[in-house]
Amino acid sequence: MKFFLDTAHIPHLREAAEAGLIDGVTTNPSLLAKESGDPIQTVREIAKIVEGPISAEVVSLDAEGMVREGLELRKIADNIVVKIPMTLEGLKAIRTLSLQNVPTNCTLIFSPMQALMAAKAGASMVSPFVGRLDDIQSPGMELIEQIVDIFTNYAIETEVLVASIRGPMHALEAARMGADIATMPFAVLQSLAKHPLTDAGIESFLRDWEKTKTK
Ligand code: G3P
Repeated sequence: MKFFLDTAHIPHLREAAEAGLIDGVTTNPSLLAKESGDPIQTVREIAKIVEGPISAEVVSLDAEGMVREGLELRKIADNIVVKIPMTLEGLKAIRTLSLQNVPTNCTLIFSPMQALMAAKAGASMVSPFVGRLDDIQSPGMELIEQIVDIFTNYAIETEVLVASIRGPMHALEAARMGADIATMPFAVLQSLAKHPLTDAGIESFLRDWEKTKTK
């Protein structure tokens, strides 16, 4: 499973990329709005740091506008993936862009059939939002299980990108279910590397090592 960072915060992206921890990035208008300055300039900065796919989202609601914006976003860098919301207009835009070999990420997926339709339209990735489903007492990870099953049944190549991850258990379950990508906030990515027994082990090894000096 690939690890993506779900952020537009440059210091976090720099730290994770330098440590070789991330395979790509997802942004959305809300994440870009949290950062200072022009959002397009922020995407440009991200593209200087990250080699893997970078999802940048369109804000038009009509297919024509989405395609126009998507093609503009693609001028930023070759690794830009055009993120398009799951609507009927969005599906049209995905179809048009995929016929031009432009990679797309269909976002705001909340049902398995939405994911299947996005894949049929030619999306390179689909982004089901697990945390937002959990928020309304609908088990988000069940959606991932269903999408992975359906895509396996039909040998669909569209990647399942688990989004709206809120904690390490979402990432663990995504990997167990065979999702292709998990995109997560920086804090969640960091938490995956941690274990209290690792810290306790280091502490006790160092304590024992110190004792060798007094022998
Ligand atoms: O990038 C989209 C998604 O990951 C948003 O997450 O926590 O705002 O539901 P969240």
